[in-house]
Amino acid sequence: MKSIIRDLTEIIGPSSYEELVADAIEKMIKKNKNLEIKRDVMGNLIARKRGGGKKIMIAAHMDEIGFMVKHIDKNGFLRFAVVGGIFNHNIIENHVKFTSGVEGVIGVESKTFNWKDIPSADKMFIDIGAKSKAEAEKLVSIGSLAGMKATFVDMGKRISTKTLDDRVGCAMLVKLALSEIKSNNDVYFVFTTQEEVGLRGAKTSAFGISPDFAVAIDVTDTGDTPESHVMEVSLGKGPAIKVMDSGMVVRKPVIDFMKETAEKNKIPYQLEILTAGSTDAMVMQTNKDGVLAGVISVPTRYIHSQAETCDMDDVENGVKLLKAMIETDLSKKGF
Ligand code: CO
Ligand code: ZN
Repeated sequence: MKSIIRDLTEIIGPSSYEELVADAIEKMIKKNKNLEIKRDVMGNLIARKRGGGKKIMIAAHMDEIGFMVKHIDKNGFLRFAVVGGIFNHNIIENHVKFTSGVEGVIGVESKTFNWKDIPSADKMFIDIGAKSKAEAEKLVSIGSLAGMKATFVDMGKRISTKTLDDRVGCAMLVKLALSEIKSNNDVYFVFTTQEEVGLRGAKTSAFGISPDFAVAIDVTDTGDTPESHVMEVSLGKGPAIKVMDSGMVVRKPVIDFMKETAEKNKIPYQLEILTAGSTDAMVMQTNKDGVLAGVISVPTRYIHSQAETCDMDDVENGVKLLKAMIETDLSKKGF
C-alpha cells in the first residue's frame, strides 16, 4: 500500500492535467479483468464492476493544487496564477515541478518581504534557472502547469509528502478496484478530476452514472497537534466518517450505515466535523434529484502543504470499511 501511495504522490497532476496520474492508475487497475474501464471528456477515469444491484459510486480525486504560468519576464522569471487553494506561506522557497518535467523554485519579492505579513502569490515568481525570457520560453509557455515537488518521508506507520490529498484516496480506491467484491452491487470506482477548483469532475461523472449511493474518499484535518484548533479527529484513531463540512451535511441513514458497518466489522472509526473545506461528495449528494452520499476521510496533518502527513493504519482500516460497505446488499437497506 505504501508503495502505491509513494508512486502516485510522486506524479505531478494539477487540476485539468490529471493524465499522468490517470495513466499510472489505469496501469494498476487493468490487472483486474472484471473491470470495464473508460475515461470521459472531463478526464475522469471510471472503472465499473458490473452488477445487477444498487449503483454505488466511490470517488477519489486525482488532481492537486498547483501553479500556472501567466507571464514570463525579460530575465526569465515566471509569474504564476494558483490553481486551487494554496496557503501562501507554504510555497515560498519551495520546489516545483512542471508536467513536462521542468523543475524550479518559488522566490518572493524580497524588497517588501517580511514573515509577519505573508505576501500574496502575485508577489512571488518561479525561478526555473533561465537567464532570459528566450531561455525560459524554451522550457515553459503561458498556461504551463506545475505542482509542488517533495520527498517522501517514511516514519514507519506514518508517512509525509505532497499530495496525500488525494492520492492516498486514489491508492485506497486502487486497492478496492483490485479486490474481489463479493456482492451484486453495480460499483463504479471513479478517479475524478478538477476537485481542487470546484469538484467539477465529480459533478459530471455523478450525473452520468446516477448512483443510488455515493462515497468520496478524501483527507480531512486533525486537532491533534500542539495548540491546534479544536477538532475531534486524530491520526491513527481510524478512518473518519464525515458528519458535516462546509459543503454538506451528511444524511443520517448514511452515517448510521457507515457506523454500523464499522462496528460490525470491528473497524475503528472517528466522527468528523470539518469547518473549512469540502469534497466531491458535496456535488454527488445534490446530483439530479438527490443522492445518499457520504465521505470516508483519512485524518491528515498539514493539508495543502508539501508535507501532508497521515497514518497507514487509518488508510488500511479505511479500505476495510469501504470494502465492507460495498459488499453490503444496499437494496435491503432501502438505499
Ligand atoms: Co485538497
Ligand atoms: Zn482533497
